[in-house]
Amino acid sequence: MTLKGKKILLGLTGGVAAYKAAELARGLVKAGANVRAVMTKSAAKFVTPTTLQALTGQEVWIDLWDKRVPDAMGHIELSRDRDLIVVAPASANFMAKVAQGLADDLLSTLVLARRCPLLLAPAMNVEMWQSAATRRNAKTLAADGVLFAGPAAGDQACGEVGMGRMLEPGQILALIEGGFQPKRLAGKRFLVTAGPTEEPIDPVRVITNSSSGKMGYAVARAAREAGAGVVLVSGPVALETPEGVQRINVRSAAQMFGEVKARLKGCDVFVSVAAVADFRPKKAARQKIKKGEREGMVIEMERNPDILAWAAAQKNAPFCVGFAAESENLAANAKAKRRKKGIPLLAANLAQKALGSDENALTLYDERGAHPLGRGPKLEQARKLVAHVAAMLRSGKKAR
Ligand code: C5P
Repeated sequence: MTLKGKKILLGLTGGVAAYKAAELARGLVKAGANVRAVMTKSAAKFVTPTTLQALTGQEVWIDLWDKRVPDAMGHIELSRDRDLIVVAPASANFMAKVAQGLADDLLSTLVLARRCPLLLAPAMNVEMWQSAATRRNAKTLAADGVLFAGPAAGDQACGEVGMGRMLEPGQILALIEGGFQPKRLAGKRFLVTAGPTEEPIDPVRVITNSSSGKMGYAVARAAREAGAGVVLVSGPVALETPEGVQRINVRSAAQMFGEVKARLKGCDVFVSVAAVADFRPKKAARQKIKKGEREGMVIEMERNPDILAWAAAQKNAPFCVGFAAESENLAANAKAKRRKKGIPLLAANLAQKALGSDENALTLYDERGAHPLGRGPKLEQARKLVAHVAAMLRSGKKAR
C-alpha cells in the first residue's frame, strides 16, 4: 500500500494509449490511492467513462459544465483536494495547451487551476514528439516545473517506430510511488556499485559471479527517490538505469575499483552492493584459448582489491554500507564481516533466497545489533535500507 491516503487526479487525453490508463488506474487504486478520473472528450472515444468508473470506484468527469457541480466551480473543486495530477496519456495537443496556459475544457482548466504537482506521461507519434513545436512545449513545461514520465522509444500503434510511446502503466506507477517518498537524503551524494564483475580469461571467456544487479539498482533508485544525487557504477547487467541516476558501466573488478577511487571523494555515502569477483586470472590470454587435445586446464588466479574495505579505510571515508550474501550462519558471518571491513552498516541475506529474484529478506547489522527488514520486493527493501542510512546519518554516525 505504497500510495495509501494519497489523492490523485488521473487525467486522460485522446490517444490509443488511453487503454493503458485503465490499467494505471487499477494499479493506483491497488496501491491504496484515491483516484478521481477526468477525461477529455477525445479520450472518451478510446476508452469509456464506465471502465474508469468501475476501476476507480468513483464518478468520472468530462464536461466543464457538468450539472453535478452545482455552482459551476468544478474546474477548481475537482483538483483542490488532490496531492497530484497525472495525465496519461498526455497528447501533443494537451502538452501545447498546458504550455500556453489554455483552459478550454475541464481537464486543461483543472490543470491550470491546480495547486499540486503535475506529472505528464506523453504518448504520440514519433514525428509529433520530435516536431519543433512539441520540443519547445516540452522545454517550457519542464521549466515551469511540470514533471515527465517518459515517453519511451519503440513500436507505435500507427506502425512507425521511435520516441513517443507512453511508458507502461507499471513504470508510471513506480515513478509516482517514488515521487511520494520522503526526501530524507536531499543534498546527499551516493556512490553505489551493483551487478557482477567479469574477469577475462581470454577475449571471449570470463570468470564472474551470479548477480542480476537488481538489489544494487533498487538501492540506487531508492536513494534517488529520497532526494540524493546518485552515481551507479555497474557491472554487466540487463537492467534499465533508474530515473535521474548517473550510470557508469564497467566490466572487471579493476575497472570498478578505478571508478570508485575516482569518485569516492565528495561522497556522503558509499553502498557496495556489487558481487565483485574475489580473484581474477593472473594473465588474460590475448587470443581465444584453443581446447586442443587437453583433458583439463589450470587457470592461475590472483586476488582482486577489496573495494569496500579500501573505501572504508580512507581518511574522511564516507558512510560505508556493505552487502553480504551468505549461504549459512547469517548472523555470525554478517557481524564478523562488518567488523572486518570496518563499516558502520552491513545488509545481509541468505544467497539462495535472493539470487535473481525480485524479492529479498535483508537483515541490517549496525553497532546496535540486527534489524530484520522482513521479506518483500527489492525496491521496498532498498527504501527501508535508505531510511535506515538516513536515520544513522542524522544521528551523526560516521565510518566505523
Ligand atoms: O568479503 P565479501 O565479498 O563477502 O564482502 C561483500 C561486500 O564487500 C560487498 O559489499 C561487496 O560489494 C564488497 N566487496 C568489494 N570488493 C571485493 C569483494 C567484495 O567491494 N573485492
